[in-house]
Amino acid sequence: MMKTFKSRFTLLLNALFLMLNVAAVNATFAADLTKAALIPKPVSVKAAVGFFTLQGSTVILISEESPELIRVAQYLADRLNPATGFNLAIHTVGTIPASNCILLETKISNSQLGQEGYELTISADNIKLAANTAEGIFRGVQTIRQLFPATIECKTVQKGPWKIAAGSILDYPSYTYRGSMLDVARHFFGANDVKRYIDLIAAYKMNVLHLHLADDQGWRIEIKSWPALTEIGSTTQVGGGKGGFYTQEVYNDLVQYAAGRFITIVPEIDMPGHTNAALASVPELNPDNQSTKLYTGTNVGFSTLQTHKEFTYKFLGDVIRELSGMTPGPYIHVGGDESHSTKKEDYIPFIEKVQDLVLANGKLMLGWDETALSALKNSSVAQYWAKAENAKLGVTKGVKIIMSPAAKAYLDMKYNPKTHLGLHWAGYVEVDTGYKWNPETLVPGITKENILGVECPLWSETISNIDQIETLLFPRLPGYAEIGWTPASDRKWEEYRIRLGHQAERFKMMGIHYYPSAKVSWK
Ligand code: ACM
Repeated sequence: MMKTFKSRFTLLLNALFLMLNVAAVNATFAADLTKAALIPKPVSVKAAVGFFTLQGSTVILISEESPELIRVAQYLADRLNPATGFNLAIHTVGTIPASNCILLETKISNSQLGQEGYELTISADNIKLAANTAEGIFRGVQTIRQLFPATIECKTVQKGPWKIAAGSILDYPSYTYRGSMLDVARHFFGANDVKRYIDLIAAYKMNVLHLHLADDQGWRIEIKSWPALTEIGSTTQVGGGKGGFYTQEVYNDLVQYAAGRFITIVPEIDMPGHTNAALASVPELNPDNQSTKLYTGTNVGFSTLQTHKEFTYKFLGDVIRELSGMTPGPYIHVGGDESHSTKKEDYIPFIEKVQDLVLANGKLMLGWDETALSALKNSSVAQYWAKAENAKLGVTKGVKIIMSPAAKAYLDMKYNPKTHLGLHWAGYVEVDTGYKWNPETLVPGITKENILGVECPLWSETISNIDQIETLLFPRLPGYAEIGWTPASDRKWEEYRIRLGHQAERFKMMGIHYYPSAKVSWK
């Protein structure tokens, strides 16, 4: 008798607990906008009373019929339709009454918001998303996605209700360059994997995808004037797989796909080291006009272009011209790292000549921090990964720095000694290590004014498929996105680890293979 009462009582308690818990979850999403677990954390969030409910009759209203804004409106509808089962209509302002709508309004001329900022106002009647540009609207759309229950990310119809708490958000990024790099040279990843990568970084408001397109193990981009680069140089990868490459047509499609998410692709051809795939493909690049053998190992520093051969610059002129033709963005990345087989006195003028080639093609040069040894133009950018002295030297030469310190920001570093994927030559990068640093104070002498932005690179020596990519990206990627977006004064690990924990449900709905790090306060 007593036992039955006890278990009934326990059941009742459990039911009560569940109800309270559900209430708590709803509260997170529907009752108080300031409690929403957004990443990156917005600049300012204010709560109001009530909530907006998305319905099948809700209309996406655009303030102008520009192709870009129509595209963003369609992107928003495509994100919301599958899980809600709605087929949200898109109309232009003035054509229908402006209630029960998500209004996307561009050209508001708010200088505080800049190119990518947005203002979001949520009331019981409407959601209003306003920005100077369609790009700002796109970034704000990512916030709207995260404000809905995580089930909004499902590809199949879910239950709802689809509520967002009332209030307002004012938001804009700290840095103009917020990116991630994918190494498609050590292992090749096909266009669908790259598109998935683009979608994942876009969800956290990043705006650059740096593609490492050539290294010792593979050449991954079609160059029509030197077909041997892909006929030979693309045919293997680390461990001896079949490799692969992007035709210019496929690559241009990736550029367009990224542009549709306001992401710029920065293509990298690494030189003068990390060039064995080219040396194996084009005999004249070698001192004796004899091709090298293809390489499938993971050593670095053994290859070099011939810095004294005129042929080298003719070849590079062709490569940079074709690459520039495929690059609407401003930067061509020329690598320049770990050129251990190039004499320093040859390396320095080589980078300067390559800089001239990049500028002659109407682009700006980006290079790893070693390139700061050369006479860089003010417009060039150095990417700090290893040596703070190089980055500081770059600053004295007036160039801007991209912060990718390996010990903090390399996504290919293992989380800890127990995790399998990745390397650990720069240390272990647990989720807290990856988050708890400030680009503005990391290197004494490099201040916010010197920094263009933040990038987290993913090298692919140990990974060969998209699930492995995701395991190294998540849950670290959102942290780098936040470092690039949210002011340092607003970032605290103890508070972030809870917000990050709330993302778990979203990761699951998005089918992301993430590492469930014990550092995160998972929900
Ligand atoms: C690099 O990690 N070698 C830039």
